[in-house]
Parts: sequence; C-alpha cells; structure tokens
Amino acid sequence: MDFRYVSNVISPEPQDRPHGAAARRGPFRVGERVQLTDERGRMNTITLTDGAAFHTHKGFLNHEELIGKSEGSIVANTTGQLYQALRPLLSDFVLSMPRGAAVVYPKDAGQIITMADIYPGARVVEAGVGSGALSISLLRAVGDQGYLHSFERREEFAAIARGNVETIFDGPHPAWQISLGDFQDEVVKAEAPGSVDRVVLDMLAPWECLDAVATVLAPGGVWINYVATVTQLSRTAEAIRADGRFTEPDAWESMVRGWHLEGLAVRPNHRMVAHTGFLLVTRKLADGVTSLALKRRPSKTEFSDEDLEAWTPGSVGERSVSDKKLRRAARDASATTQTRGHVAPAQPTVPRPAAEDSVQETDQAQNPDA
Ligand SMILES: C[S@@+](CC[C@H](N)C(=O)[O-])C[C@H]1O[C@@H](n2cnc3c(N)ncnc32)[C@H](O)[C@@H]1O
Repeated sequence: MDFRYVSNVISPEPQDRPHGAAARRGPFRVGERVQLTDERGRMNTITLTDGAAFHTHKGFLNHEELIGKSEGSIVANTTGQLYQALRPLLSDFVLSMPRGAAVVYPKDAGQIITMADIYPGARVVEAGVGSGALSISLLRAVGDQGYLHSFERREEFAAIARGNVETIFDGPHPAWQISLGDFQDEVVKAEAPGSVDRVVLDMLAPWECLDAVATVLAPGGVWINYVATVTQLSRTAEAIRADGRFTEPDAWESMVRGWHLEGLAVRPNHRMVAHTGFLLVTRKLADGVTSLALKRRPSKTEFSDEDLEAWTPGSVGERSVSDKKLRRAARDASATTQTRGHVAPAQPTVPRPAAEDSVQETDQAQNPDA
C-alpha cells in the first residue's frame, strides 16, 4: 500500500514567515511583552523578566508564573487575583509603548492604510516618525518585500521610534530605513523622481513638503496627510489645489464609538475619543498635466503672510515634551528590544495610558454606575 503523508496545513519555513511572526507564536518567553487583564478589565503590560514580579496593591505575580505558559492562560497572583495573559495586539502595543510625540491612533492608522491603498511591496515614504506608531502599521502593510523610508527631524524621536519598531518586529525590519532631517530637504536626495508609490505625512506643516512630494511621487501615486486642526487641513488643501499637480483633495475624519454589551444593557459607551485628526488625500497627476479644477478656476491661496506665520507648534496646540522625558522614553523603547532572548534587568511595568489615550478601556471601568 502506498502511504503518503498529505498535509493541508501550509507551514512555511521560519525564514519565509513575515517578519516577527515567529516571535508571536508559542509559549511566553523571557523578554516578551505580555498584556495582563484583571477581572475588572483593567490592563497592564509587562515585559517578562527572569526573577521579576508584577506588583499591585493586591499582591504580586512572579513572571515565572507566565514564562513557558500558553498565550491565553489565566494566572493568579499571591492573593488570588486572576489575570488573563495575552500578547498585545498591534493596537494594544501602540497605546502602551513609550512615546515622545502624540501617536496616530489605530483607528486612523487603519484608515490611512486602506484609503491611501498601502499594499504589500509598495514603496512608501513617511514623515514625521514621532514615536513610530504609524511606521509600525505601514511596515505591516508593505511587508518584508516592501519599502518604507521614514524621515524625522528630531533625533530623540527617531530613537524612540526605532526602539518601538524593533520591539514589535523582534529586531530591525528588513523594509525599513529611517533618516534624520527635514522631509522636504532629505526625501529629494534619497528618492529618485517619480519613484515613490505613496507619501504619508503626519506633521505640523505638510504644505511645506508640496514640491518634494510632487517630485518623488509617481504619477497616480497617493499622498495622504494626517493633521490635527482645521486650520492645518485648510492650509494643506489650498496649497494642493493652487499647485495644480495633484487631483482635488478629499478630506474626512473618523469617529469610533465603543459599545457597552451587558445583558439587556446594550448601548453606546458614555465616553469616547471624539477627536484625533483629519485625513486629507490627493493623487499625483501625470507629469506636465494641470488639474482640471485649476484649469477651470485659477486659484491662489487665501492665506496672508500673517496667516503663514501663525502655524507654530504652540498655536496649533502641540504640547512640548521635556528633553528629560524624551530621554527616558528612548531608554524604555530600546530597553525592551535589548531584553529579547537575553537575561533582562528588572523591568518596570508599562501601564495602560490615561483614559483619553485608551480607545479600549472598558465602559464599566469608566462608568461605575453603568
Ligand atoms: C505627531 S508626530 C508623528 C507621530 C507618528 N506619526 C506616530 O504615529 O508615532 C510629528 C513628528 O513630525 C516631526 N516633523 C515635523 N515636521 C517635520 C519635517 N518637516 N520633516 C521631518 N519631521 C518632521 C516632528 O519632529 C514630530 O516627531
């Protein structure tokens, strides 16, 4: 008889797996981040370390209880408090990772990936990098065979972003490079004219990058902007329109409202993150072509010189972060990467961010009377 083993499970060799995939499977290992959720839905993220413990005012949990256990295990601390243990998803990681600048929220990252049509293998440029939250989603979308060149003007932010990217991908990502400097100056030196498929900007003054974007973006390429205020949105849209090398811009915002689901009490959560930012998307026309809208109605920007002076970090509400805080975030971001697979030093718990930063906080936790 001819016994042949037929497997319907496609199991690529480890080296063929998408970057970091192997590190997301199997039992918990030293150096990994684990998200603990208690019976009231409160979350804490810890980095598994030999000999360390997760302390609360209700006892402590030795990391040894988790090392070697299956994902999804439920473990008890010294006073019997139960915790469900899971690897953080990308969305969890982004909300709890060390940060310097404000991050792009998962809901906006999802919109950016879809509406800018970021696909596996795409050549993408991005600025600024900030804490690297959006870079992580972009790398996931372009994949190991893609290309993401990120530009950041501040060295401390670049260091935080690098630490965060290397933590979630379990080392350097093969598709990623990061350059220091102003996007508008550096991208034209680094990328050949018309060679980029997608441009993603999350910065104070995207309109300053218009010429650089028009130079590097391929005809038909997508340029998406994420801006926090209406004044930035309007300035960027008018600059794109007046330039004529791009299609009519489209703008929108997204609001995600969580729901409370408990028996017959099924209703929207009382609280939500109501505003994050606006998205503005346009596409590059063929070389030498002028947009139909500009042909029909020659336009010029309505902004005066005083207006142009007004876009400062302070006036659009950007919070400045102290150098000390940035140095600490950079240390935290790189410390997690360094502990992977090594004996780790005592590791502080990284708490969930405050309510305004958490899109996943349970309704019960926020509304005890719910
Ligand atoms: C809000 S943060 C970006 C956050 C990032 N997208 C994330 O999800 O973590 C804005 C960043 O843009 C950087 N930046 C502003 N203008 C820039 C420019 N012209 N070129 C490069 N970086 C710039 C700032 O230093 C800051 O780090």
